Amino acid sequence: MDKKSAGLSDAFKARTAPKSFTKNPINGTKFTIAISSAKGGVGKSTFAMNFALALKSLNYKVGILDADIYGPSLPKMMNINKKPKSEDGKSLIPIEQYGIQCMSIGFLVEEETPMIWRGPMVTSAIKTFTQKVLWKDLDYIVIDMPPGTGDTQLTFAQEIKLDGVIIVSTPQEIALMDVKRGIKMFDKLKVPIFGLVDNMSFFETNEGQSYDIFGKDGVEKLANEFQKRFLGKIPLNIDLRVAADKGEPLVKKNPEHKISKIFIDIGKKVEKILS
Ligand SMILES: Nc1ncnc2c1ncn2[C@@H]1O[C@H](COP(=O)(O)OP(=O)(O)OP(=O)(O)O)[C@@H](O)[C@H]1O
Ligand SMILES: [Mg+2]
Repeated sequence: MDKKSAGLSDAFKARTAPKSFTKNPINGTKFTIAISSAKGGVGKSTFAMNFALALKSLNYKVGILDADIYGPSLPKMMNINKKPKSEDGKSLIPIEQYGIQCMSIGFLVEEETPMIWRGPMVTSAIKTFTQKVLWKDLDYIVIDMPPGTGDTQLTFAQEIKLDGVIIVSTPQEIALMDVKRGIKMFDKLKVPIFGLVDNMSFFETNEGQSYDIFGKDGVEKLANEFQKRFLGKIPLNIDLRVAADKGEPLVKKNPEHKISKIFIDIGKKVEKILS
């Protein structure tokens, strides 16, 4: 390694070295579960909304915090067009939709406004959402993470009491490469990984023919390789996509749908892990 890259490597190590931070729980919540994946567009937000509704169907009080400051999905996926209220000008009251307490930066800015923010502003927004939102009596808060292994992930991993992370990925090689980075980051930061979910796992025609569009069993193999739990496969499904686009997640719209049952099953697995 030349001098320059050795210097860069040292700077990198210093940046990622675990420091001792105080991990604060999110007020008003019991368990905090982050939905993550270093890769973009693999279905984290779709999973987060449906998983939250699955936990609700198991009779828990649930909240969702959209931690994707640059690309919030919650307002659209949960069909919320209101701004949160504040009684004292300092704290925010989450907006309740489908029985779930919700918060997103998307409630505070216009839909097409780009968030042109540097890292420290993102960290500060995350702190506001975790410290100044009046979450009420929640059993679970589900955090919808942005893609990557950046400021948001670090803030959550180091400064917030995360009970566990669920890693979502498609079985595609290019996604799995990023997911490995994500797993290593959470392991390094000592955040428990509850398990991995294989999203867009396969596509099944009405005639029952199955196609492995993004490859087969990639996520399950990765889970085995890293000795993590494999939580399940969610197929590529048009009803799931349409429901997300219409702002009524499938688990809410049709809890009896076979895809909804997969989310509920994963909810039961997580319930068991935490019990
Ligand atoms: N199993 C699935 N079947 C069909 N469509 C899906 C499935 N999972 C996700 N999608 C669709 O794929 C797109 C990306 O999903 P989503 O926004 O949940 O990904 P993401 O990982 O949160 O993306 P980002 O990294 O940008 O936050 C959306 O249009 C969503 O409706
Ligand atoms: Mg997302």
